[in-house]
Amino acid sequence: MRKGMGMNTKLLLSFVLGAAIVGAIWATRQPEPIQDISAKWSGSGHADATSESFVHWDADEPPVVPTNCAKCHSLYGYLDFLGADGSAAGTVDKEAKTGSVLFCNTCHSDAAHSLSQVSFTSGAAITPRGSEASCLQCHQGRSSSPSVNKTLAGLEADTVNEKLAFINVHYNIAAATLMGNDGQTAYQYDGKSYIGRYNHVVDLSSCTQCHDPHSLAVAPKECSPCHLNVVDKEDLKDIRYNTQDYDGDGNIKEGVHGEIETLHDALYVAIRDYARTVVGKPIAYNPDAFPYFFNDANDDGVASAEEAVAANRYASWTPRLVRLTYNYGFVLKDPGSYAHNPRYVLQFLYDALQDAGEKVPVQVTGLKRP
Ligand code: HEC
Ligand code: HEC
Ligand code: HEC
Ligand code: HEC
Ligand code: HEC
Repeated sequence: MRKGMGMNTKLLLSFVLGAAIVGAIWATRQPEPIQDISAKWSGSGHADATSESFVHWDADEPPVVPTNCAKCHSLYGYLDFLGADGSAAGTVDKEAKTGSVLFCNTCHSDAAHSLSQVSFTSGAAITPRGSEASCLQCHQGRSSSPSVNKTLAGLEADTVNEKLAFINVHYNIAAATLMGNDGQTAYQYDGKSYIGRYNHVVDLSSCTQCHDPHSLAVAPKECSPCHLNVVDKEDLKDIRYNTQDYDGDGNIKEGVHGEIETLHDALYVAIRDYARTVVGKPIAYNPDAFPYFFNDANDDGVASAEEAVAANRYASWTPRLVRLTYNYGFVLKDPGSYAHNPRYVLQFLYDALQDAGEKVPVQVTGLKRP
């Protein structure tokens, strides 16, 4: 007598099926071979021993990374900050040796793996998502809305003060953008509300979901299913989702990156107008020359090689000019801002334009604050 499949056959079948499923899951979860990880890391900026980020202090006497720089520019400084070298956690208490890049043990130590909160310059305590905690530590910038306010407290908005200077938020400040109002790193105006952490979509909302933690690259093929325009890296800047939410130039087809560019360019014009008419000293920006803002005697908007020298650095700062240039610089220091938190960026650029608009004519047709 045969009633359907025999018990053993059923068992066997379900076992084979189950094993196949488990096998499939196992195959997708299989850890990456260490050799592949090492190769990816070697090609990344974190491993670039010639980068200014790692050689900047080599010629100092003695050649050490100062305590206020070491956390992010030295393996030894980061281990010191974490307390992984046996010192107190949360501060760097000694200068660090030069000569390191961000070796594997920067991010892989018990102390790094168990980080459950990251404090930002503003004083905010951020709870990291997934495995991004270390990324937040180093990519958060070095100043914030509260620290800018502290510098400007009690000063007349449009009076030149020789104690003031350009405040540079620092470099590659992706975490500052991503956290938005939760981190308060851009200059935020009183009485305005700002978007907090950019949630994007659940599987692509933390640093290490969008960036491979070792190569640091973003894989465009992970974006294509929802952003149909994306084939390769060049297409990322054309991503646009909320077509009606914001517009600075009447073009609602361009990527959100283009919207940011429009407001950012307008802010540069406003900064120059303000410096020329309110301060009486034309200003220009040069991305490659410290401290970035220079007197622009010919007022052509370009800080040429002859103009971009230390002796010609811009020295006629008013509080308003400091906050305008701070937000202008913020955008320059995050090339991925359009993906990290586009609406936060559009909000503070809009507000900076409005701030400048109290003193100079600001022309932006169809400008909308998201
Ligand atoms: C200890 C500080 C530190 C940590 C932790 C850190 N970074 Fe960086 N990151 C840097 C520095 C410094 C650079 C600049 C390196 C250079 O100029 O070559 C950098 C560069 C980058 C770049 C620029 C691309 C490149 O290849 O130069 C990306 C993207 C990046 N980091 C993402 C991340 C992500 C994602 C994480 C977390 C997995 C992370 N970083 C953790 C300090 C850090
Ligand atoms: C909170 C982390 C952090 C701290 C603290 C920090 N930096 Fe950086 N710094 C970074 C990151 C991240 C970059 C990466 C820029 C990049 O990818 O090119 C960077 C880049 C730089 C660069 C290279 C800029 C360029 O043009 O390539 C210099 C120079 C630098 N920092 C100087 C300093 C000095 C000086 C200090 C201390 C006074 C300091 N940093 C403190 C995070 C930090
Ligand atoms: C900038 C920080 C950073 C550096 C430097 C770094 N890693 Fe990682 N690594 C991570 C993060 C974050 C993860 C977790 C990824 C996840 O699960 O989202 C990870 C995951 C891993 C894993 C587990 C991968 C898996 O498939 O489960 C291994 C193994 C590893 N790293 C080895 C290394 C080695 C070896 C190096 C040096 C060649 C290195 N890492 C350098 C941040 C880093
Ligand atoms: C929604 C996906 C997404 C998330 C989340 C994300 N990034 Fe990015 N990031 C991007 C894209 C897209 C770019 C631009 C990439 C490009 O042009 O190659 C970028 C650019 C960057 C850059 C500049 C790279 C360069 O070439 O100079 C850094 C640094 C960076 N991201 C770090 C981070 C860190 C740190 C976090 C977490 C705080 C983070 N990102 C979160 C998508 C993301
Ligand atoms: C599962 C679908 C999905 C995937 C995959 C996805 N996105 Fe998105 N993306 C969205 C949605 C939904 C929005 C609108 C969210 C919002 O801003 O409120 C969005 C918004 C954006 C925006 C802002 C657009 C705008 O007009 O405000 C950028 C930039 C972006 N995504 C980049 C990326 C990148 C880079 C990747 C790949 C690493 C990616 N996305 C993958 C669904 C996705």
